[in-house]
Amino acid sequence: MPQKATAEAKSNIAFIKYWGNRDAQYRVPLNNSISMNLDHAFTTTTVEFDARLNTDMIRVGDLPANDATRTRVITHLDRVRALAKIETRARVASSNNFPTGTGMASSASAFAALSLATTRAAGLNLDERALSILARQGSGSASRSIPDGFVEWMAGTESGNSYAVSLLPHDFWDLRDVIAIVSTTEKKVGSSDGHGLAQTSHFIDERVRALPLRLQRVRRALFAKNLAMLGPAIEEDAVELHLIAMTSNPPIFYWSPAMVRVIETMRRARADGLAVYFTLDAGPNVHLICEAKDADQVAARAREIADVQNVIVNAPGTGARLIAEHLF
Ligand code: DP6
Repeated sequence: MPQKATAEAKSNIAFIKYWGNRDAQYRVPLNNSISMNLDHAFTTTTVEFDARLNTDMIRVGDLPANDATRTRVITHLDRVRALAKIETRARVASSNNFPTGTGMASSASAFAALSLATTRAAGLNLDERALSILARQGSGSASRSIPDGFVEWMAGTESGNSYAVSLLPHDFWDLRDVIAIVSTTEKKVGSSDGHGLAQTSHFIDERVRALPLRLQRVRRALFAKNLAMLGPAIEEDAVELHLIAMTSNPPIFYWSPAMVRVIETMRRARADGLAVYFTLDAGPNVHLICEAKDADQVAARAREIADVQNVIVNAPGTGARLIAEHLF
């Protein structure tokens, strides 16, 4: 039985957002979501089960994991131990290729890579669906970092039927996500808490009612490689995520002046003929979606904005995969 395995998984940007759970414990979401994996934002994770250990050893980057991360990772290791019917403790090392503290999401790539590496190290060989289901329980958006390219997470009704599938391979459409990094401070309210509050917003029912149509617009736009159709749908969805957050009880303000300044600049650029649309996560950074041919111009416009500290350009990324080079 293999004791050690290393996996790499990309982060992803949602075009239709996951916000709110039907079942918080298992992370069964209120709605389907659609995303694109990001080739320049990935996590590499090595896991080794070792019978000599009496506790799990977890490192993130060069440091031992903090308590919150440690607890969440151990809970995930326990899920795999239960599946594999083992009790052996593990050594885990994880590293992000993107700078920490950029406000870029890492739980999606982290739990996707952890799921693949841990199951393989435990001697399990899960198929894509089972891996997506497992990753989802660690972090909802991680379910979408298992399959390739453009991905839809089928909300399902219970843990066993809530998983992500590839809609289109990463090389289907040469889109870019130009991330304008406006803040490097950690957000005050984590996504998990935000999901928990979503249903306190009066607007959540309306969102869930409106989504099937918007999901269909996004699917159609992707299949037709039609940015003029995709753009407005993803902007609506991003604003709606923030609307739900701001009208939750208590309200959460991920919305920020710097974010709005970037959005305004890009709306002006679009009025001048540049085909660029924004999307937002539960943080201040702005994801600028455009075609590859326009990415340099979009990045240049973003860099001119005083609030923008860094710009990271991503093409569509592959799904999670095993790699031969271990971190230790
Ligand atoms: C705004 O997957 O980070 O990025 O399941 O609690 O780990 P947890 O939440 P997470 O939520 C992502 C929220 C989002 C939208 C999205 O990626 O769909």
